[in-house]
Amino acid sequence: MSQSNIFIFLILIPLTFPQSAKGKDCVCDLKNSDPVFPMNKLKKVETNALQCTGTITSEKMTELDRLVLGLQQRIKQLEDNVVMLEKEDNRNIYGAVSLRIIELEIAEIQDLVDKLNRTTKNYQHLSLQTAAQLEDMKDTMVELEKFDNMLVIKKDRDNQRIKRELEQCKEEIKATAPPPTVPPARCGLGRLVSVAGPRTYSLTVYSTSYPYGAWGRDAKPAPGDENKYWLVVLSSSNVYGHFVRQYGTLSTLLLGIGPTDTYISSSNPTTNTIQGSNMVMYGNMLYYNCYYAYSVCQFNMATRAVSTVALPKDAGYNNKFPFAHLGTTYSYTDMDFATDEFGVYVIYATTSNFGNVIISKVETSNPPALNQTWSTSLHKRTVTNTFMVCGVLYATRYVDKDTEEIFYSYDTKTNEERYDLKMNIKKMQTNIEFLNYDPRDHLLYVYSDAYILTYELIFQ
Ligand SMILES: *[C@@H]1O[C@H](CO)[C@@H](O)[C@H](O)[C@H]1NC(C)=O
Ligand SMILES: *[C@@H]1O[C@H](CO)[C@@H](O)[C@H](O)[C@H]1NC(C)=O
Repeated sequence: MSQSNIFIFLILIPLTFPQSAKGKDCVCDLKNSDPVFPMNKLKKVETNALQCTGTITSEKMTELDRLVLGLQQRIKQLEDNVVMLEKEDNRNIYGAVSLRIIELEIAEIQDLVDKLNRTTKNYQHLSLQTAAQLEDMKDTMVELEKFDNMLVIKKDRDNQRIKRELEQCKEEIKATAPPPTVPPARCGLGRLVSVAGPRTYSLTVYSTSYPYGAWGRDAKPAPGDENKYWLVVLSSSNVYGHFVRQYGTLSTLLLGIGPTDTYISSSNPTTNTIQGSNMVMYGNMLYYNCYYAYSVCQFNMATRAVSTVALPKDAGYNNKFPFAHLGTTYSYTDMDFATDEFGVYVIYATTSNFGNVIISKVETSNPPALNQTWSTSLHKRTVTNTFMVCGVLYATRYVDKDTEEIFYSYDTKTNEERYDLKMNIKKMQTNIEFLNYDPRDHLLYVYSDAYILTYELIFQ
């Protein structure tokens, strides 16, 4: 736009003023020595440029980048799995199961590649068309620049080039700095650098009866409830729960003294009972995956009323997109709930996002509502659990029976995704069925094969 102003300006400059005087009259004879400026050509270039940016939007490119990024990660994971399988004893049934999982994974990846191939072809067509348009525009601009008698454009271009070089220089300096772990100091926390602990490690009053469960504190407690702890075990087939147990303090929980039970329903499973182990408590409400539905349930601990809000129709539920690792799926973990400094989130996967993770903010109104939603490239079945800290999603994966690794982050403020985090969690039991962050004490609450644990997040 500023260029057109420059051109208009230039027409007026190169003028000649031959003068002649006849008595008192003065006549000026203006003669423009230059050809007329082709304004229409400039207008055309501007229109074309606008069209070009319209057809190749950054959103379309981001979508494609995201797909490719997710695919790269899955292929890498697949390679690791194949290596692991090769080490396994072939007579072992586990080997056969793993082989089947790998076959399924290959089929899915093939499907994705096909989709990508189709998308890329559309882009190829678009870019060919755009390239021709660009070439055309460039020719016109060269022609138009002949009118740049005062070298305004040339100087401007030199400036642009120097600016670019400066930016590049800055980038290079940045690149040599140590890689940042995780995004900036929001919520006054600094960067998450490691996980220490466990700080608490105990069985519950149920001993080893129930490997699936969840526990923690209310992330936004009512006055007087600050020290209360809640515990839910999936007492039916490791899948369903129908009541919430609460204790006044951590020590009464560990000793199993004086619990209060609040029943969602008298039997299990039935409408609005809990399905899967990844629930949270916020504002005296329990948020969880409603039994056999693609809905979020909000259970009011005081009134025992249940309100719901539905996820998209193609969201996984009933064990369609559970957390998993090679050879093991964490049954019915389609929906994960998380609390952080900003409130409650639900983490799930949809068919239209290729089984990759989606994050939705849950408004804790009554009834609850879904608000902002972020699509990631993270394949849900390669993840064992997630939690959120200050608007950043972290995902863990299974390394071996002693170690879980936080390997991934998604920043909902910047949409930045990273697959290169390497923060280990030292496990006491093999599997993690529940993991959540408490914004009040910055601890991770974990339910692991019937044991309850806390870990401390270390920020820099
Ligand atoms: C993409 O599709 C074309 C034809 O539709 C096919 O020839 C080509 O092999 C495909 N590429 C991949 C990587 O699948
Ligand atoms: C959705 O989120 C935005 C931004 O945080 C907020 O301003 C708005 O009130 C939210 N909507 C609802 C229905 O809560």
